[in-house]
Amino acid sequence: MNPEKINHAFLDGVMSGEYPDVYYHFGVASDDPILKKFRDVKAVVLCGSGGRIIEFAEKWSKKRKRKIYALPKEERFVTRYCDGVLFASHGMGMPSASICVQELMRMVYFLKDGNLEEMDKVFWTRVGTSGGVGLEGGTVVVTTEGLMADMKPYRVLVGEREHYFDGDFPKDVAQGIIDASKDSGLPLEMGKTIAGNEFFIEQMRLDGAIRLAEESWKFGWLDWIHEKGVRNIEMEGAMLAGFMNHWGFSKFAMICCTLLNRMNGDQVTASKEDLHSYSERSGTVLFNYLDVILKR
Ligand code: URA
Repeated sequence: MNPEKINHAFLDGVMSGEYPDVYYHFGVASDDPILKKFRDVKAVVLCGSGGRIIEFAEKWSKKRKRKIYALPKEERFVTRYCDGVLFASHGMGMPSASICVQELMRMVYFLKDGNLEEMDKVFWTRVGTSGGVGLEGGTVVVTTEGLMADMKPYRVLVGEREHYFDGDFPKDVAQGIIDASKDSGLPLEMGKTIAGNEFFIEQMRLDGAIRLAEESWKFGWLDWIHEKGVRNIEMEGAMLAGFMNHWGFSKFAMICCTLLNRMNGDQVTASKEDLHSYSERSGTVLFNYLDVILKR
């Protein structure tokens, strides 16, 4: 962990009991008794949709025969906790997901009493969908580096200054995820992932209401990122890696199933059944890994 990067100016007052931390978008504060149930958190699982969070939590609860706890506010993010795993939806895109991740980082800090060794034992992952770059729909990609559309890491504006984060995902964790599913029969790949700030323009789609790219530019870009090792495109990974690296977490990952091969088109035309099966695949890979790291 990087203690010097943790916001002690704010969090020390929370830990000393001077004031509670309000996780506004989750509808709870650090003095809410429900958080006592979350103290044993060992993994934080994030995905875009609230429905998927509920399915994941139910699956985990059935496997482990443990009760599910929910946070009451669900208008922004849907949250469930069951047997060491905190499941939370983050919405779509980095502006939404960054709020979720920041509040959860503060929550984990509180839950672990600011103990950096305990915090670093927590595994974080996003599980989602993506567009494949040279990969057909249904391939599960485990990310090695999260970058923005220009192949540079996530950055934000701090007033007039630009702050760059580090987009690396820990390779040992990515390999561990692949190894845990090596007998699953699922198509698995490791590779870099682009996070677009937008589904259409920043993912070089030509089917948006607003079209700023031409076909030759789109294919030039797809070929360029593919040559540089990019295997899929989604909307949150560069931020997730950036924030995890900033505090110095060492166990985090992203597991995304492709819905289509962007070399062949822009519209998501897979059948409802195929889309369901694709979304199950990344869930299977997640649970195979959780079974390894959270053995009882
Ligand atoms: N999610 C994305 O962000 N892009 C795709 O092409 C598919 C899913």
